[in-house]
Amino acid sequence: MITGKYPSLRLRRSRKNDWSRRLIEENNLTPNDFVLPIFITDGKNKKQPIKSMPNVYRHTLDKLPLIIDKAIKLGLPMVALFPNEEKKKKNLLGTEALNENNLVCRALRMIKKKYNDEIGIMCDVALDPYTSHGHDGLIKDGYVLNDETIEVLINQSLLQAEMGCDILAPSDMMDGRIGKIRKALDKNGYNMTQILSYAVKYASSFYGPFRDAVGSKGLLKNNKKNYQMDFKNKDEALREVSLDIKEGADIVMVKPGLPYLDIIKSVKENFKIPVMAYQVSGEYSLLCNAINKDLINKNVIIESLISFKRAGANAIVSYYADRIDKILK
Ligand code: PBG
Repeated sequence: MITGKYPSLRLRRSRKNDWSRRLIEENNLTPNDFVLPIFITDGKNKKQPIKSMPNVYRHTLDKLPLIIDKAIKLGLPMVALFPNEEKKKKNLLGTEALNENNLVCRALRMIKKKYNDEIGIMCDVALDPYTSHGHDGLIKDGYVLNDETIEVLINQSLLQAEMGCDILAPSDMMDGRIGKIRKALDKNGYNMTQILSYAVKYASSFYGPFRDAVGSKGLLKNNKKNYQMDFKNKDEALREVSLDIKEGADIVMVKPGLPYLDIIKSVKENFKIPVMAYQVSGEYSLLCNAINKDLINKNVIIESLISFKRAGANAIVSYYADRIDKILK
């Protein structure tokens, strides 16, 4: 593999000049690599700051065109919608998830009507923004029920597909949901709606600021360890991915990102399937805090984002996506 040796071989030769470094670079970032998460909330003409996430806001639906216009102008291929539902709309069963006038459904209709296929829209399939306990599924005696939850997720998927969602992203980690959702989509005429499985989703403490953003933080009792993966495990991640591929996933997600680069790499090497990485809220906030506010060092951000590409990710969900022009400039 290694040919030649010092002094005839000098690796610094190709590093000497900028043009040469550019010539041999192995990885790069373009706007095509990014998905922008957008938090939506009820009301009018509001842009609510999220305390734990600098420069990230919850937007009311009337503000969406501004954000989508910008995303298209930046060249982002896709946005992801996350609702912050009012507390009074949340209940034990998460029934608001199936309301065709909930925040996500209204946003989907509006964006699709105005922009058609100019930009992709991805939506989570999971009940946590809608349940009063903040868990992703139905609960019995403190345990998140698998098969019963899937029945609701199927209906949530069909509804979101009907409203115009391009990529359904089950982030719930129930066993067997990809196959069942795929089957239901095909049976109902949505055979071109993609499924991006959050196949490898770890029970992570890096999700804290997100739960704040969608308003599930104070509600969540215990943790999500009986359905999300144990971060001590790696082989299990490959088993999750292989199951989801067999069940019909088009793309798989590894989440969080930065602490799991080893997982991104093995998923890519083992399965040769499109892999997406999620630079989650806690990673985002840590990076923001690590950087002197006045002297924003965008190189730190680029360095972290490139590591996802080096590991093998095809795309990255990142809260920096709306500023990617300034970061990459
Ligand atoms: C919910 C969901 C979570 C995230 C995306 N979808 C949080 C969770 O599972 O509790 C986290 C995203 C982030 O932290 O940025 N199913």
